[in-house]
Amino acid sequence: MAKSLISIHDFSKEEILHILEVAREFEQNKSQTFLSDKVIACIFFEPSTRTRLSFETASNRLGARVIGFPDAGNTSVRKGESLKDTIKMVSNYADLIVMRHPLEGSARYASEVASVPVINAGDGANQHPTQTLLDLYSIRETQGTLDNLTINMVGDLKYGRTVHSLLQAMSHFSPSYIFTAPEELKLPEEYKTFLQQNHIPYTETLDLNEYLQSTDILYMTRVQQERFTNPMEYEKVKNIYRLDAAMLKGVRDNLKVLHPLPRLTEIANDVDETPHAYYFKQAENGVYVRMAIIAYLLGKR
Ligand code: CP
Repeated sequence: MAKSLISIHDFSKEEILHILEVAREFEQNKSQTFLSDKVIACIFFEPSTRTRLSFETASNRLGARVIGFPDAGNTSVRKGESLKDTIKMVSNYADLIVMRHPLEGSARYASEVASVPVINAGDGANQHPTQTLLDLYSIRETQGTLDNLTINMVGDLKYGRTVHSLLQAMSHFSPSYIFTAPEELKLPEEYKTFLQQNHIPYTETLDLNEYLQSTDILYMTRVQQERFTNPMEYEKVKNIYRLDAAMLKGVRDNLKVLHPLPRLTEIANDVDETPHAYYFKQAENGVYVRMAIIAYLLGKR
Protein backbone atom coordinates (compact mmCIF):
# COMPACT_ATOMS: atom_id res chain seq x y z
CA MET A 1 0.00 0.00 0.00
CA ALA A 2 1.34 3.49 -0.87
CA LYS A 3 2.33 5.70 2.08
CA SER A 4 -0.49 8.11 2.89
CA LEU A 5 -1.02 10.94 5.37
CA ILE A 6 -4.30 10.32 7.17
CA SER A 7 -3.47 11.06 10.80
CA ILE A 8 -0.59 13.08 12.20
CA HIS A 9 0.54 9.78 13.79
CA ASP A 10 1.41 8.52 10.28
CA PHE A 11 4.52 10.73 10.42
CA SER A 12 7.31 10.20 12.95
CA LYS A 13 8.95 13.16 14.69
CA GLU A 14 11.83 12.88 12.19
CA GLU A 15 9.43 12.95 9.24
CA ILE A 16 7.64 15.98 10.68
CA LEU A 17 10.93 17.86 11.09
CA HIS A 18 11.96 16.84 7.56
CA ILE A 19 8.72 18.25 6.11
CA LEU A 20 9.28 21.53 7.98
CA GLU A 21 12.84 21.81 6.60
CA VAL A 22 11.76 21.12 3.02
CA ALA A 23 8.86 23.58 3.39
CA ARG A 24 11.33 26.29 4.33
CA GLU A 25 13.30 25.55 1.15
CA PHE A 26 10.09 25.90 -0.86
CA GLU A 27 9.29 29.21 0.85
CA GLN A 28 12.70 30.49 -0.26
CA ASN A 29 12.31 29.09 -3.80
CA LYS A 30 8.59 28.97 -4.55
CA SER A 31 8.50 27.27 -7.95
CA GLN A 32 10.32 23.98 -8.49
CA THR A 33 8.63 22.11 -11.29
CA PHE A 34 10.03 18.62 -10.79
CA LEU A 35 6.56 16.97 -10.70
CA SER A 36 5.66 17.88 -14.28
CA ASP A 37 4.83 14.24 -15.06
CA LYS A 38 2.33 13.95 -12.16
CA VAL A 39 -1.42 14.44 -11.82
CA ILE A 40 -2.87 15.36 -8.41
CA ALA A 41 -6.58 14.84 -7.68
CA CYS A 42 -8.19 17.26 -5.21
CA ILE A 43 -11.60 15.82 -4.34
CA PHE A 44 -13.62 17.78 -1.81
CA PHE A 45 -16.93 16.49 -0.42
CA GLU A 46 -17.09 19.42 2.06
CA PRO A 47 -16.54 23.19 1.58
CA SER A 48 -13.00 24.59 1.70
CA THR A 49 -11.15 27.71 0.65
CA ARG A 50 -7.61 27.47 2.06
CA THR A 51 -6.97 23.74 1.99
CA ARG A 52 -8.19 23.13 -1.54
CA LEU A 53 -6.70 26.25 -3.11
CA SER A 54 -3.36 25.89 -1.31
CA PHE A 55 -3.12 22.23 -2.40
CA GLU A 56 -3.89 23.30 -5.97
CA THR A 57 -1.31 26.11 -5.74
CA ALA A 58 1.25 23.73 -4.24
CA SER A 59 0.64 21.21 -7.05
CA ASN A 60 0.93 23.91 -9.72
CA ARG A 61 4.13 25.31 -8.21
CA LEU A 62 5.60 21.79 -8.35
CA GLY A 63 4.68 21.55 -12.04
CA ALA A 64 1.96 18.90 -11.54
CA ARG A 65 -1.47 19.08 -13.15
CA VAL A 66 -4.61 19.12 -11.02
CA ILE A 67 -7.95 17.37 -11.50
CA GLY A 68 -10.85 17.06 -9.07
CA PHE A 69 -14.00 18.69 -7.78
CA PRO A 70 -14.82 21.26 -5.07
CA ASP A 71 -18.29 19.80 -4.51
CA ALA A 72 -19.42 16.18 -5.03
CA GLY A 73 -22.86 17.47 -6.08
CA ASN A 74 -21.78 17.53 -9.72
CA THR A 75 -20.26 14.04 -9.70
CA SER A 76 -21.68 10.53 -9.90
CA VAL A 77 -21.79 10.45 -6.09
CA ARG A 78 -25.12 12.21 -6.68
CA LYS A 79 -26.27 9.13 -8.61
CA GLY A 80 -25.36 6.95 -5.64
CA GLU A 81 -21.80 5.87 -6.49
CA SER A 82 -20.00 4.65 -3.37
CA LEU A 83 -16.88 6.22 -1.87
CA LYS A 84 -15.03 2.97 -2.58
CA ASP A 85 -15.82 3.06 -6.30
CA THR A 86 -15.12 6.79 -6.53
CA ILE A 87 -11.67 6.35 -4.97
CA LYS A 88 -10.87 3.35 -7.18
CA MET A 89 -11.71 5.42 -10.26
CA VAL A 90 -9.73 8.48 -9.17
CA SER A 91 -6.75 6.19 -8.37
CA ASN A 92 -6.74 5.24 -12.04
CA TYR A 93 -6.53 8.88 -13.12
CA ALA A 94 -4.12 10.47 -10.61
CA ASP A 95 -0.78 9.84 -8.89
CA LEU A 96 -1.97 11.20 -5.54
CA ILE A 97 -5.37 11.98 -4.02
CA VAL A 98 -6.15 14.87 -1.66
CA MET A 99 -9.57 14.29 -0.08
CA ARG A 100 -11.84 16.16 2.32
CA HIS A 101 -14.93 14.32 3.51
CA PRO A 102 -17.45 14.92 6.33
CA LEU A 103 -17.29 11.34 7.69
CA GLU A 104 -14.74 10.49 10.37
CA GLY A 105 -12.64 7.56 9.20
CA SER A 106 -13.42 8.12 5.50
CA ALA A 107 -9.84 9.17 4.70
CA ARG A 108 -8.37 6.02 6.27
CA TYR A 109 -10.87 3.94 4.32
CA ALA A 110 -9.95 5.75 1.09
CA SER A 111 -6.25 5.04 1.69
CA GLU A 112 -7.05 1.33 2.05
CA VAL A 113 -8.96 1.29 -1.25
CA ALA A 114 -6.63 3.55 -3.27
CA SER A 115 -3.59 2.36 -5.20
CA VAL A 116 -1.92 5.79 -4.83
CA PRO A 117 -1.10 7.92 -1.74
CA VAL A 118 -4.04 9.68 -0.07
CA ILE A 119 -3.75 12.92 1.90
CA ASN A 120 -6.49 13.59 4.43
CA ALA A 121 -7.60 17.20 3.95
CA GLY A 122 -10.02 16.86 6.90
CA ASP A 123 -12.39 14.02 7.85
CA GLY A 124 -15.29 15.28 9.94
CA ALA A 125 -14.28 16.18 13.50
CA ASN A 126 -11.42 13.68 13.40
CA GLN A 127 -8.09 14.85 11.89
CA HIS A 128 -6.63 17.55 9.63
CA PRO A 129 -2.94 16.58 9.55
CA THR A 130 -1.76 18.98 6.83
CA GLN A 131 -3.22 21.88 8.81
CA THR A 132 -1.22 20.58 11.77
CA LEU A 133 2.01 20.53 9.81
CA LEU A 134 1.47 24.12 8.67
CA ASP A 135 0.61 25.04 12.27
CA LEU A 136 3.89 23.48 13.44
CA TYR A 137 5.77 25.35 10.70
CA SER A 138 4.12 28.61 11.79
CA ILE A 139 4.89 27.97 15.45
CA ARG A 140 8.54 27.26 14.72
CA GLU A 141 8.91 30.26 12.40
CA THR A 142 7.49 32.63 15.04
CA GLN A 143 9.02 31.14 18.20
CA GLY A 144 12.35 29.91 16.82
CA THR A 145 11.65 26.51 18.41
CA LEU A 146 8.90 23.95 18.92
CA ASP A 147 10.12 22.97 22.38
CA ASN A 148 8.69 23.86 25.81
CA LEU A 149 5.99 26.27 24.61
CA THR A 150 2.70 27.14 26.29
CA ILE A 151 -0.14 26.64 23.82
CA ASN A 152 -3.54 28.09 24.69
CA MET A 153 -6.31 26.52 22.59
CA VAL A 154 -9.56 28.45 22.54
CA GLY A 155 -13.12 27.77 21.42
CA ASP A 156 -14.41 24.56 19.88
CA LEU A 157 -12.13 21.96 21.40
CA LYS A 158 -14.79 19.25 21.11
CA TYR A 159 -15.29 19.17 17.34
CA GLY A 160 -12.12 21.01 16.28
CA ARG A 161 -10.12 18.52 14.19
CA THR A 162 -7.23 21.00 13.90
CA VAL A 163 -7.05 21.09 17.70
CA HIS A 164 -7.05 17.30 17.96
CA SER A 165 -4.27 16.86 15.38
CA LEU A 166 -2.12 19.71 16.75
CA LEU A 167 -2.20 18.66 20.38
CA GLN A 168 -1.02 15.17 19.40
CA ALA A 169 1.74 16.47 17.11
CA MET A 170 3.07 18.89 19.71
CA SER A 171 3.40 16.00 22.17
CA HIS A 172 6.86 15.39 20.61
CA PHE A 173 8.03 18.78 21.87
CA SER A 174 7.23 19.00 25.62
CA PRO A 175 4.40 21.56 25.49
CA SER A 176 2.13 22.83 28.25
CA TYR A 177 -1.50 23.33 27.31
CA ILE A 178 -4.25 25.67 28.39
CA PHE A 179 -7.68 24.67 27.12
CA THR A 180 -10.15 27.56 27.06
CA ALA A 181 -13.65 26.33 26.28
CA PRO A 182 -17.22 26.32 27.61
CA GLU A 183 -18.60 23.12 29.12
CA GLU A 184 -20.37 22.21 25.84
CA LEU A 185 -17.16 22.39 23.79
CA LYS A 186 -14.56 20.98 26.18
CA LEU A 187 -11.78 18.72 24.91
CA PRO A 188 -13.04 15.10 24.69
CA GLU A 189 -11.81 12.68 27.35
CA GLU A 190 -9.84 10.55 24.87
CA TYR A 191 -7.46 13.46 24.19
CA LYS A 192 -7.04 14.20 27.91
CA THR A 193 -6.18 10.54 28.44
CA PHE A 194 -3.60 10.81 25.65
CA LEU A 195 -2.01 13.83 27.38
CA GLN A 196 -2.00 12.11 30.77
CA GLN A 197 -0.38 8.99 29.32
CA ASN A 198 2.32 11.16 27.75
CA HIS A 199 2.84 13.23 30.96
CA ILE A 200 1.90 16.50 29.23
CA PRO A 201 0.53 19.11 31.65
CA TYR A 202 -2.72 20.93 30.91
CA THR A 203 -5.10 23.36 32.58
CA GLU A 204 -8.74 24.01 31.68
CA THR A 205 -10.55 27.34 31.99
CA LEU A 206 -13.71 29.08 30.83
CA ASP A 207 -12.10 32.52 30.96
CA LEU A 208 -10.12 33.69 27.91
CA ASN A 209 -8.42 36.46 29.92
CA GLU A 210 -7.15 34.16 32.68
CA TYR A 211 -3.99 32.81 31.06
CA LEU A 212 -3.23 35.27 28.24
CA GLN A 213 -0.15 36.63 30.07
CA SER A 214 1.50 33.19 30.22
CA THR A 215 0.70 32.12 26.64
CA ASP A 216 3.17 31.74 23.75
CA ILE A 217 0.72 30.53 21.09
CA LEU A 218 -2.94 31.55 21.26
CA TYR A 219 -4.71 29.05 18.99
CA MET A 220 -8.18 30.47 18.32
CA THR A 221 -10.88 28.35 16.66
CA ARG A 222 -14.31 28.88 15.17
CA VAL A 223 -17.39 27.34 16.77
CA GLN A 224 -18.42 25.08 13.88
CA GLN A 225 -22.13 25.29 13.24
CA GLU A 226 -21.94 22.38 10.78
CA ARG A 227 -20.93 19.93 13.56
CA PHE A 228 -23.97 20.60 15.79
CA THR A 229 -27.04 18.38 15.53
CA ASN A 230 -29.08 20.67 17.81
CA PRO A 231 -29.27 24.33 16.55
CA MET A 232 -30.14 25.56 20.07
CA GLU A 233 -26.84 24.20 21.40
CA TYR A 234 -25.01 26.17 18.71
CA GLU A 235 -26.90 29.37 19.55
CA LYS A 236 -25.84 29.06 23.19
CA VAL A 237 -22.09 29.00 22.46
CA LYS A 238 -21.60 30.60 19.04
CA ASN A 239 -20.32 33.96 20.37
CA ILE A 240 -18.69 32.66 23.54
CA TYR A 241 -15.25 34.22 22.90
CA ARG A 242 -14.13 37.39 21.16
CA LEU A 243 -10.47 38.36 21.26
CA ASP A 244 -9.80 42.07 20.67
CA ALA A 245 -6.64 44.17 20.56
CA ALA A 246 -7.17 45.62 24.05
CA MET A 247 -7.05 42.12 25.56
CA LEU A 248 -3.53 41.65 24.14
CA LYS A 249 -2.02 44.58 26.09
CA GLY A 250 0.73 43.26 28.39
CA VAL A 251 1.00 39.79 26.85
CA ARG A 252 4.38 38.25 26.02
CA ASP A 253 6.13 39.93 23.06
CA ASN A 254 6.46 36.55 21.37
CA LEU A 255 2.74 35.68 21.66
CA LYS A 256 1.28 34.91 18.25
CA VAL A 257 -2.39 34.46 17.50
CA LEU A 258 -3.00 31.50 15.18
CA HIS A 259 -6.32 30.41 13.70
CA PRO A 260 -6.93 27.72 11.05
CA LEU A 261 -9.57 30.07 9.56
CA PRO A 262 -12.22 30.88 8.52
CA ARG A 263 -12.92 33.20 11.45
CA LEU A 264 -16.32 34.49 12.43
CA THR A 265 -16.56 36.76 15.49
CA GLU A 266 -13.88 35.13 17.68
CA ILE A 267 -11.11 37.50 16.54
CA ALA A 268 -12.00 41.18 16.17
CA ASN A 269 -10.61 42.96 13.11
CA ASP A 270 -8.48 45.27 15.28
CA VAL A 271 -6.30 42.26 16.24
CA ASP A 272 -5.18 42.12 12.57
CA GLU A 273 -3.21 45.35 13.09
CA THR A 274 -1.29 44.09 16.13
CA PRO A 275 2.15 42.42 15.93
CA HIS A 276 0.54 39.33 17.49
CA ALA A 277 -1.65 38.48 14.48
CA TYR A 278 -0.17 35.66 12.38
CA TYR A 279 -3.21 33.85 10.92
CA PHE A 280 -2.97 35.17 7.36
CA LYS A 281 0.74 34.33 7.11
CA GLN A 282 -0.10 30.96 8.70
CA ALA A 283 -2.50 30.25 5.81
CA GLU A 284 0.17 31.29 3.28
CA ASN A 285 2.59 28.85 4.93
CA GLY A 286 0.15 26.09 3.95
CA VAL A 287 1.34 26.29 0.35
CA TYR A 288 5.00 25.57 1.22
CA VAL A 289 4.14 22.83 3.70
CA ARG A 290 1.76 21.14 1.25
CA MET A 291 4.43 21.31 -1.47
CA ALA A 292 6.75 19.47 0.92
CA ILE A 293 4.11 16.84 1.80
CA ILE A 294 3.23 16.13 -1.85
CA ALA A 295 6.91 15.84 -2.83
CA TYR A 296 7.63 13.55 0.12
CA LEU A 297 4.70 11.16 -0.53
CA LEU A 298 5.65 10.96 -4.22
CA GLY A 299 9.20 10.04 -3.22
CA LYS A 300 10.75 13.18 -4.70
CA ARG A 301 12.43 14.56 -1.55
N1 CP B 1 -8.16 25.78 7.61
C1 CP B 1 -9.00 25.19 6.73
O1 CP B 1 -9.11 23.95 6.68
O2 CP B 1 -9.67 26.08 5.94
P1 CP B 1 -10.67 25.66 4.78
O3 CP B 1 -11.85 24.98 5.43
O4 CP B 1 -11.04 26.94 4.09
O5 CP B 1 -9.95 24.70 3.89
